[in-house]
Amino acid sequence: MPEKHGLTRRALLVGAAPLVAAGPLARLAFADDDKGHEHLASHEGHDHRDLGHAAMIGDQVPAPGGPTDLDELLLPPPALPHQPGRIREYKLVARDKEIEVAKGVTFPAWTYNGTVPGPVIRATEDDILRVEFTNAGSHPHTIHFHGIHPANMDGVFEIVGPGERFTYEFPAQPYGMQLYHCHATPLKKHIHKGLYGAFIIDPAKPRKPAQELVMVMNGYDTDGDGANNFYTVNGLAFYYAKYPITVSRSQTVRIYLANLTEFDLVNSFHLHGEFFRYYPTGSTDQFEYTDTVVQTQGQRGVIEIDFHNPGLFMFHAHQSEFAELGWMGFFNVVA
Ligand code: CU
Ligand code: CU
Repeated sequence: MPEKHGLTRRALLVGAAPLVAAGPLARLAFADDDKGHEHLASHEGHDHRDLGHAAMIGDQVPAPGGPTDLDELLLPPPALPHQPGRIREYKLVARDKEIEVAKGVTFPAWTYNGTVPGPVIRATEDDILRVEFTNAGSHPHTIHFHGIHPANMDGVFEIVGPGERFTYEFPAQPYGMQLYHCHATPLKKHIHKGLYGAFIIDPAKPRKPAQELVMVMNGYDTDGDGANNFYTVNGLAFYYAKYPITVSRSQTVRIYLANLTEFDLVNSFHLHGEFFRYYPTGSTDQFEYTDTVVQTQGQRGVIEIDFHNPGLFMFHAHQSEFAELGWMGFFNVVA
């Protein structure tokens, strides 16, 4: 039986450079050549193979979404001063939603609040985090938070059926970059469908001021073969190549980084032209000085960059395959 869906990971990899350079993915068709291999064919009538992908930046990049579409996921709400017992309330609603994850490529996602990843949750250590969860989706879900909390707030046994609600409430501990995700079974499916997000707990003694960003690394299996076809940070393939992130050289850039990629064992973050401090989990002051970090699924940490030079600096998964399938972008460092 020939492969029913043309969009296999292998076909994408084989054709990644021309694919990315050839304009909207929607206009790309997949055809079988006479050797029985799938290949990518552009129906636009021109050949852009000479463009390559590595330097693709700006308007020519076929990323979905407008220039501010990911602001809510990239820019966390501000940290609040330490005030034990203060209640921090969030409302999360699980919904099924078809989302465009790469130009012209949709994914039947399960979301928290309509986006993949879900919203950034932030609290200061010793706040009481209260998350009112409504399941408006078609399957049972939960929210499982990483961090310290009572057993009955763990989102494993208290399954929330479609149409039901559950309120999670516990003191936010310990400080660091935590995360949350659905823990209904089959777990792999509930995670890869998109039910996860960043959960920042700020230390009692505030971190020094910085330009703060959140990056959640993920992947999408858009053809259902159990392997990812696209990789992103914050949900949209090639987005930060189309819309580089402008930062100032005069202040530290702090990135809360997490890996929620399903199917692949690890993901990574690599920065060009600079080194940074990496604090694993962000829960101590111990750091590594490096330009590349690796995270397995569920791992996370805090990156602090003090850029020495202005200009455009690429960041991407150091697995070249992931970069070519969408997980790459640029910082535009201004003086
Ligand atoms: Cu679920
Ligand atoms: Cu987990």
